[in-house]
Amino acid sequence: MNVLVIGSGGREHAICKALKKSKLLDKLYIASSPVFKEAVDIRFSSYEELAQKCKALQIDIVIVGPEAPICDGIADIFKKHKINIIAPTKKWSNLESSKLVAKQLMSHYSINNAPIIKAPSRFPLVLKADGLCGGKGVKIIYSMDELVTQMEKLKADFPEGAKRIFMEEYLEGVELSLISLWDGKSLLHFPPARDFKRLSLSKDSPNTGGMGSYCPVELTEVQQDRLDLYKTKLNFMLSDEKADFIGFIYSGLIWAKNAWYVLEYNMRPGDPETQSILNQLDTDLLYILNAAIYQKLDEIKLRLKNGVSATLVVASDGYPQQPKDGNLIEFPEDKEIVVHYSGVELKNEKLYSKGGRNLSITTSAGDLNTAFNRLYSYSDKIRMENKYVREGLPKN
Ligand code: AMP
Ligand code: GLY
Repeated sequence: MNVLVIGSGGREHAICKALKKSKLLDKLYIASSPVFKEAVDIRFSSYEELAQKCKALQIDIVIVGPEAPICDGIADIFKKHKINIIAPTKKWSNLESSKLVAKQLMSHYSINNAPIIKAPSRFPLVLKADGLCGGKGVKIIYSMDELVTQMEKLKADFPEGAKRIFMEEYLEGVELSLISLWDGKSLLHFPPARDFKRLSLSKDSPNTGGMGSYCPVELTEVQQDRLDLYKTKLNFMLSDEKADFIGFIYSGLIWAKNAWYVLEYNMRPGDPETQSILNQLDTDLLYILNAAIYQKLDEIKLRLKNGVSATLVVASDGYPQQPKDGNLIEFPEDKEIVVHYSGVELKNEKLYSKGGRNLSITTSAGDLNTAFNRLYSYSDKIRMENKYVREGLPKN
């Protein structure tokens, strides 16, 4: 099969690496990254033009990583051209692009989500801008003064989302990323992963796109039971709504009050969760994607490697606000470490940092401590000025 991956970050690099191992793969294309060695780079100036290129190259399956093309409606355009695409339609992308739309749907199907607060009577509470904010539209608020300043800040940072800022109850607990693939008929769940959203361990540090991840996550019996219940509800919701797309749905969950609550939906695989999940997977990814296209996900039994896979993000000082870009990156070969390019550019055959998160490094080991110790010691060997990694993983 010929496959096109859309996107250019660490998640897409992990997808390319996994596809490259598949016996079913003929040619692999990426739109767009000149740095991934695994795939042929394709440029495009419109989704229509990309659809034409897919036809000319006889692409069998397109898989989309980032939210932007999904929310632009790439799936609707490609479906019109009868190109097999793994990405939700524009209608379903609303679950990610509008937290309020998602809350409404969840409430209709009795899926737990944090209750909306009308007036700030106690702290902490959570302030959210409705819209795509790259994980940065959420603030945990500890006082009235902070509420006022952060409200102003959200309005300035996200003028679109700021039209619908809302407050919700603060839930205390551990988080879980459940990434599932929907084929229009059934759901295939990947093993649960965890990512680390805060920039550092400090309570007032900002939320980010994710500073690290691991998979699988060990659950207690009751957590597993409740997760199974949640999976049933999610399946029912998608079936009952006749969700006519093939794509990923990422449930951002938190364990609070003895139940899983949904904090958010993302209609795409998570970054950096994908790096850990795919590293842990022992089933051919292209076989899974092909089954999704033919609505045969119910026939797939996922196989996992033993132990755990973990990922550490190597970012730049100043991330997430103003990352210091343009630094030369050099790192040694290490057969135990997979280096994913998250935000880099190539100049004169050398890699330079671009964007806040630059590399995501992944390894597998028998236990989490061994995995993260190995990742931290490898990250010390990466030469890059203004390098930043979050200390203290795997603390929540
Ligand atoms: P979201 O984009 O809604 O998933 O929020 C990003 C992060 O903010 C989550 O992963 C949580 O760490 C935190 N967060 C969001 N909503 C809440 C909430 N209601 N209670 C506690 N923490 C939250
Ligand atoms: N790691 C969180 C996300 O992909 O949004």
